[in-house]
Amino acid sequence: MKSLNDYRELTEEYLQHVISVPAGDGAGLAESMRYSLLAGGKRIRPVLSLAFCDSLGGDIGAALPAACALELIHTYSLIHDDLPCMDDDVLRRGKPTNHVVYGECTATLAGDALQSLAFETLLSSPLPSECLVRCTKILAEAAGYQGMCRGQFLDMAGEGCILSTEQLTEINNCKTGALLSAACAIGTVAGGGNETQIRAASRFGRLLGLAFQIRDDVLDVISTDAELGKTVGSDVQEKKNTYMSLLGLEGCNAEIEALTASAVSVLEENFPQTEFLAELARSLAKRNH
Ligand code: IPE
Ligand code: IPE
Ligand code: MG
Ligand code: MG
Ligand code: MG
Repeated sequence: MKSLNDYRELTEEYLQHVISVPAGDGAGLAESMRYSLLAGGKRIRPVLSLAFCDSLGGDIGAALPAACALELIHTYSLIHDDLPCMDDDVLRRGKPTNHVVYGECTATLAGDALQSLAFETLLSSPLPSECLVRCTKILAEAAGYQGMCRGQFLDMAGEGCILSTEQLTEINNCKTGALLSAACAIGTVAGGGNETQIRAASRFGRLLGLAFQIRDDVLDVISTDAELGKTVGSDVQEKKNTYMSLLGLEGCNAEIEALTASAVSVLEENFPQTEFLAELARSLAKRNH
Protein backbone atom coordinates (compact mmCIF):
# COMPACT_ATOMS: atom_id res chain seq x y z
CA MET A 1 0.00 0.00 0.00
CA LYS A 2 1.13 3.54 -0.74
CA SER A 3 0.87 6.53 1.61
CA LEU A 4 -1.77 9.28 1.68
CA ASN A 5 0.75 11.62 0.09
CA ASP A 6 1.48 9.16 -2.71
CA TYR A 7 -2.21 8.82 -3.58
CA ARG A 8 -2.62 12.60 -3.44
CA GLU A 9 0.40 13.22 -5.64
CA LEU A 10 -0.80 10.76 -8.26
CA THR A 11 -4.15 12.55 -8.27
CA GLU A 12 -2.66 16.06 -8.49
CA GLU A 13 -0.37 15.05 -11.33
CA TYR A 14 -3.24 13.51 -13.31
CA LEU A 15 -5.57 16.46 -12.71
CA GLN A 16 -2.89 18.93 -13.89
CA HIS A 17 -3.20 17.48 -17.38
CA VAL A 18 -6.86 16.56 -17.60
CA ILE A 19 -8.00 19.92 -18.98
CA SER A 20 -6.10 21.35 -21.92
CA VAL A 21 -6.62 25.07 -22.37
CA PRO A 22 -7.66 25.69 -25.96
CA ALA A 23 -6.46 28.82 -27.72
CA GLY A 24 -9.14 31.29 -28.70
CA ASP A 25 -12.76 31.59 -27.67
CA GLY A 26 -13.08 28.52 -25.40
CA ALA A 27 -10.12 29.46 -23.22
CA GLY A 28 -12.17 31.30 -20.60
CA LEU A 29 -14.31 28.27 -19.82
CA ALA A 30 -11.33 25.90 -19.59
CA GLU A 31 -9.51 28.43 -17.40
CA SER A 32 -12.42 28.65 -14.96
CA MET A 33 -12.61 24.83 -14.78
CA ARG A 34 -8.90 24.62 -14.02
CA TYR A 35 -9.19 27.42 -11.47
CA SER A 36 -11.49 25.41 -9.21
CA LEU A 37 -10.07 21.98 -9.96
CA LEU A 38 -6.49 22.96 -9.17
CA ALA A 39 -7.25 25.19 -6.17
CA GLY A 40 -6.25 22.47 -3.72
CA GLY A 41 -8.77 20.33 -1.92
CA LYS A 42 -8.15 17.24 0.13
CA ARG A 43 -8.73 14.82 -2.78
CA ILE A 44 -10.45 12.40 -0.40
CA ARG A 45 -12.64 10.78 -3.06
CA PRO A 46 -9.80 9.78 -5.44
CA VAL A 47 -7.67 8.73 -2.47
CA LEU A 48 -10.46 6.38 -1.35
CA SER A 49 -10.80 4.87 -4.82
CA LEU A 50 -7.06 4.31 -5.16
CA ALA A 51 -6.71 2.89 -1.66
CA PHE A 52 -9.56 0.39 -2.12
CA CYS A 53 -8.08 -0.71 -5.44
CA ASP A 54 -4.61 -0.99 -3.89
CA SER A 55 -5.85 -2.92 -0.86
CA LEU A 56 -7.12 -5.62 -3.23
CA GLY A 57 -3.83 -5.76 -5.12
CA GLY A 58 -5.31 -3.97 -8.15
CA ASP A 59 -3.52 -1.76 -10.68
CA ILE A 60 -3.82 1.78 -9.32
CA GLY A 61 -2.41 3.27 -12.52
CA ALA A 62 -5.36 1.82 -14.43
CA ALA A 63 -7.78 3.03 -11.73
CA LEU A 64 -6.38 6.58 -11.65
CA PRO A 65 -8.61 8.14 -14.35
CA ALA A 66 -11.68 6.61 -12.67
CA ALA A 67 -10.52 7.95 -9.30
CA CYS A 68 -9.99 11.42 -10.77
CA ALA A 69 -13.46 11.34 -12.36
CA LEU A 70 -14.82 11.49 -8.80
CA GLU A 71 -12.83 14.64 -8.12
CA LEU A 72 -14.19 16.22 -11.32
CA ILE A 73 -17.78 15.53 -10.24
CA HIS A 74 -17.01 16.73 -6.72
CA THR A 75 -15.45 19.99 -7.97
CA TYR A 76 -18.46 20.63 -10.20
CA SER A 77 -20.74 20.09 -7.19
CA LEU A 78 -18.74 22.63 -5.16
CA ILE A 79 -18.88 25.30 -7.90
CA HIS A 80 -22.65 24.93 -8.13
CA ASP A 81 -23.06 24.66 -4.34
CA ASP A 82 -21.40 28.09 -3.96
CA LEU A 83 -23.57 29.89 -6.54
CA PRO A 84 -25.76 32.76 -5.31
CA CYS A 85 -28.89 30.67 -6.03
CA MET A 86 -27.56 27.93 -3.73
CA ASP A 87 -25.32 28.60 -0.70
CA ASP A 88 -24.13 31.97 -1.97
CA ASP A 89 -20.55 31.61 -0.78
CA VAL A 90 -17.55 33.72 -1.77
CA LEU A 91 -14.62 31.61 -0.49
CA ARG A 92 -13.68 28.05 -1.50
CA ARG A 93 -10.44 26.13 -1.10
CA GLY A 94 -8.92 29.35 0.23
CA LYS A 95 -9.74 31.34 -2.91
CA PRO A 96 -12.64 33.45 -4.18
CA THR A 97 -15.38 31.16 -5.50
CA ASN A 98 -15.63 30.46 -9.20
CA HIS A 99 -18.59 32.78 -9.86
CA VAL A 100 -16.88 35.64 -7.98
CA VAL A 101 -13.95 35.43 -10.38
CA TYR A 102 -15.60 34.36 -13.66
CA GLY A 103 -19.27 35.33 -13.21
CA GLU A 104 -22.33 33.14 -12.65
CA CYS A 105 -22.79 32.12 -16.24
CA THR A 106 -19.24 30.81 -16.72
CA ALA A 107 -19.27 29.17 -13.27
CA THR A 108 -22.47 27.30 -14.11
CA LEU A 109 -21.00 26.12 -17.40
CA ALA A 110 -17.69 25.20 -15.76
CA GLY A 111 -19.64 22.89 -13.43
CA ASP A 112 -21.57 21.39 -16.33
CA ALA A 113 -18.41 20.83 -18.36
CA LEU A 114 -16.57 19.26 -15.40
CA GLN A 115 -19.42 16.79 -15.10
CA SER A 116 -19.13 15.75 -18.76
CA LEU A 117 -15.36 15.60 -18.45
CA ALA A 118 -15.73 13.24 -15.48
CA PHE A 119 -17.42 10.63 -17.67
CA GLU A 120 -15.03 11.21 -20.56
CA THR A 121 -12.12 10.69 -18.15
CA LEU A 122 -13.60 7.64 -16.47
CA LEU A 123 -14.21 6.02 -19.85
CA SER A 124 -10.58 6.59 -20.82
CA SER A 125 -9.38 4.35 -17.95
CA PRO A 126 -7.47 1.32 -19.22
CA LEU A 127 -9.74 -1.03 -17.25
CA PRO A 128 -11.61 -4.00 -18.74
CA SER A 129 -14.76 -2.78 -20.48
CA GLU A 130 -17.21 -4.62 -18.18
CA CYS A 131 -15.49 -2.94 -15.26
CA LEU A 132 -15.80 0.47 -16.94
CA VAL A 133 -19.51 -0.04 -17.59
CA ARG A 134 -20.03 -0.92 -13.94
CA CYS A 135 -18.03 2.09 -12.70
CA THR A 136 -19.86 4.44 -15.08
CA LYS A 137 -23.22 3.30 -13.77
CA ILE A 138 -22.08 3.70 -10.15
CA LEU A 139 -20.83 7.23 -10.80
CA ALA A 140 -23.89 8.31 -12.79
CA GLU A 141 -26.28 7.07 -10.11
CA ALA A 142 -24.29 8.65 -7.29
CA ALA A 143 -24.12 12.05 -8.98
CA GLY A 144 -27.70 12.24 -10.18
CA TYR A 145 -31.28 12.74 -9.06
CA GLN A 146 -31.17 9.83 -6.61
CA GLY A 147 -27.78 10.79 -5.25
CA MET A 148 -25.84 14.03 -4.87
CA CYS A 149 -28.28 16.23 -6.81
CA ARG A 150 -31.18 14.85 -4.79
CA GLY A 151 -29.32 15.69 -1.57
CA GLN A 152 -28.58 19.20 -2.79
CA PHE A 153 -32.22 19.67 -3.77
CA LEU A 154 -33.47 18.54 -0.36
CA ASP A 155 -30.82 20.64 1.39
CA MET A 156 -32.05 23.75 -0.42
CA ALA A 157 -35.73 22.90 0.07
CA GLY A 158 -35.10 22.43 3.80
CA GLU A 159 -33.63 25.91 4.36
CA GLY A 160 -35.61 27.68 7.08
CA CYS A 161 -37.65 24.52 7.91
CA ILE A 162 -37.34 22.33 10.97
CA LEU A 163 -36.30 18.84 9.87
CA SER A 164 -36.09 15.61 11.86
CA THR A 165 -32.83 13.71 12.35
CA GLU A 166 -34.09 11.13 9.84
CA GLN A 167 -34.72 13.80 7.21
CA LEU A 168 -31.32 15.37 7.78
CA THR A 169 -29.63 11.98 7.57
CA GLU A 170 -31.35 11.33 4.26
CA ILE A 171 -30.08 14.67 2.92
CA ASN A 172 -26.53 14.00 4.04
CA ASN A 173 -26.55 10.43 2.78
CA CYS A 174 -27.39 11.80 -0.64
CA LYS A 175 -25.47 15.07 -0.87
CA THR A 176 -22.22 13.77 0.61
CA GLY A 177 -22.55 10.02 1.23
CA ALA A 178 -23.42 9.12 -2.35
CA LEU A 179 -20.15 10.32 -3.91
CA LEU A 180 -17.96 9.01 -1.09
CA SER A 181 -19.72 5.68 -1.35
CA ALA A 182 -19.24 5.64 -5.13
CA ALA A 183 -15.53 6.41 -4.66
CA CYS A 184 -15.10 3.33 -2.46
CA ALA A 185 -17.21 1.10 -4.72
CA ILE A 186 -15.42 2.21 -7.90
CA GLY A 187 -12.01 1.52 -6.34
CA THR A 188 -13.24 -1.93 -5.31
CA VAL A 189 -14.60 -2.72 -8.77
CA ALA A 190 -11.34 -1.50 -10.33
CA GLY A 191 -9.36 -3.67 -7.93
CA GLY A 192 -11.35 -6.79 -8.85
CA GLY A 193 -13.29 -7.05 -5.58
CA ASN A 194 -16.20 -9.51 -5.32
CA GLU A 195 -19.87 -8.54 -4.95
CA THR A 196 -19.77 -8.72 -1.15
CA GLN A 197 -16.74 -6.43 -1.10
CA ILE A 198 -18.38 -3.95 -3.50
CA ARG A 199 -21.42 -3.76 -1.20
CA ALA A 200 -19.20 -3.43 1.86
CA ALA A 201 -17.16 -0.65 0.26
CA SER A 202 -20.37 1.26 -0.53
CA ARG A 203 -21.54 0.84 3.04
CA PHE A 204 -18.19 2.00 4.39
CA GLY A 205 -18.43 5.08 2.14
CA ARG A 206 -21.94 5.90 3.34
CA LEU A 207 -20.94 5.72 6.99
CA LEU A 208 -17.79 7.71 6.34
CA GLY A 209 -19.81 10.23 4.30
CA LEU A 210 -22.23 10.85 7.15
CA ALA A 211 -19.40 11.33 9.63
CA PHE A 212 -17.66 13.58 7.09
CA GLN A 213 -20.71 15.84 6.66
CA ILE A 214 -21.28 16.07 10.42
CA ARG A 215 -17.65 17.16 10.83
CA ASP A 216 -18.20 19.66 7.99
CA ASP A 217 -21.19 21.08 9.90
CA VAL A 218 -19.12 21.26 13.10
CA LEU A 219 -16.25 23.05 11.36
CA ASP A 220 -18.69 25.59 9.90
CA VAL A 221 -19.25 26.67 13.52
CA ILE A 222 -15.95 26.16 15.34
CA SER A 223 -13.31 26.85 12.66
CA THR A 224 -12.04 30.03 11.00
CA ASP A 225 -12.13 31.16 7.36
CA ALA A 226 -8.34 30.96 7.19
CA GLU A 227 -8.12 27.40 8.48
CA LEU A 228 -11.15 26.08 6.59
CA GLY A 229 -10.59 27.90 3.30
CA LYS A 230 -14.32 28.69 3.18
CA THR A 231 -16.54 31.16 5.01
CA VAL A 232 -17.53 29.89 8.44
CA GLY A 233 -21.03 30.62 9.72
CA SER A 234 -22.46 30.04 6.25
CA ASP A 235 -24.95 27.41 7.49
CA VAL A 236 -26.59 29.71 10.07
CA GLN A 237 -26.58 32.52 7.55
CA GLU A 238 -28.43 30.35 5.01
CA LYS A 239 -30.78 28.87 7.68
CA LYS A 240 -29.54 25.34 6.98
CA ASN A 241 -30.52 22.28 8.93
CA THR A 242 -27.29 20.86 10.32
CA TYR A 243 -26.25 18.33 12.91
CA MET A 244 -24.79 21.19 14.94
CA SER A 245 -28.21 22.83 15.24
CA LEU A 246 -29.85 19.46 15.97
CA LEU A 247 -27.36 17.76 18.32
CA GLY A 248 -24.85 20.38 19.49
CA LEU A 249 -21.08 19.88 19.57
CA GLU A 250 -20.98 16.96 22.01
CA GLY A 251 -23.79 15.14 20.23
CA CYS A 252 -22.00 15.61 16.92
CA ASN A 253 -18.71 14.31 18.27
CA ALA A 254 -20.38 11.21 19.69
CA GLU A 255 -22.17 10.56 16.39
CA ILE A 256 -18.96 10.99 14.38
CA GLU A 257 -17.17 8.55 16.64
CA ALA A 258 -19.95 5.95 16.41
CA LEU A 259 -20.20 6.22 12.61
CA THR A 260 -16.43 5.96 12.21
CA ALA A 261 -16.30 2.87 14.42
CA SER A 262 -19.08 1.22 12.36
CA ALA A 263 -17.28 2.12 9.14
CA VAL A 264 -14.06 0.57 10.38
CA SER A 265 -15.84 -2.66 11.39
CA VAL A 266 -17.42 -2.98 7.94
CA LEU A 267 -13.93 -2.63 6.51
CA GLU A 268 -12.33 -5.16 8.83
CA GLU A 269 -15.03 -7.75 8.17
CA ASN A 270 -14.62 -7.61 4.40
CA PHE A 271 -11.13 -6.57 3.32
CA PRO A 272 -7.70 -8.15 3.74
CA GLN A 273 -5.67 -4.95 4.20
CA THR A 274 -7.46 -2.36 6.29
CA GLU A 275 -4.83 -0.36 8.14
CA PHE A 276 -4.55 2.56 5.73
CA LEU A 277 -8.30 2.98 5.21
CA ALA A 278 -9.11 2.59 8.91
CA GLU A 279 -6.51 5.21 9.79
CA LEU A 280 -7.86 7.53 7.09
CA ALA A 281 -11.38 7.19 8.51
CA ARG A 282 -10.13 7.98 12.02
CA SER A 283 -8.15 11.00 10.85
CA LEU A 284 -11.11 12.38 8.90
CA ALA A 285 -13.20 12.23 12.07
CA LYS A 286 -10.79 14.71 13.66
CA ARG A 287 -9.92 16.79 10.60
CA ASN A 288 -9.61 20.57 10.96
CA HIS A 289 -10.28 21.52 7.36
C1 IPE B 1 -16.77 19.73 0.95
O1 IPE B 1 -16.04 18.58 0.58
C2 IPE B 1 -18.21 19.50 0.69
C3 IPE B 1 -18.77 18.38 1.45
C4 IPE B 1 -19.26 17.34 0.87
C5 IPE B 1 -18.80 18.43 2.90
P1 IPE B 1 -14.51 18.43 0.96
O2 IPE B 1 -14.33 18.75 2.42
O3 IPE B 1 -14.02 17.11 0.50
O4 IPE B 1 -13.85 19.62 0.12
P2 IPE B 1 -12.41 19.72 -0.57
O5 IPE B 1 -12.46 18.86 -1.79
O6 IPE B 1 -11.37 19.27 0.39
O7 IPE B 1 -12.29 21.18 -0.93
C1 IPE C 1 -22.38 20.47 0.14
O1 IPE C 1 -22.53 20.56 1.51
C2 IPE C 1 -22.18 19.13 -0.34
C3 IPE C 1 -22.03 19.12 -1.82
C4 IPE C 1 -22.62 18.26 -2.55
C5 IPE C 1 -21.18 20.12 -2.49
P1 IPE C 1 -22.13 21.99 2.09
O2 IPE C 1 -22.88 23.07 1.42
O3 IPE C 1 -22.19 21.93 3.57
O4 IPE C 1 -20.59 22.05 1.65
P2 IPE C 1 -19.64 23.29 1.95
O5 IPE C 1 -19.63 23.51 3.44
O6 IPE C 1 -20.18 24.47 1.20
O7 IPE C 1 -18.31 22.81 1.44
MG1 MG D 1 -24.65 23.27 0.36
MG1 MG E 1 -22.08 24.99 0.80
MG1 MG F 1 -20.79 22.84 4.89
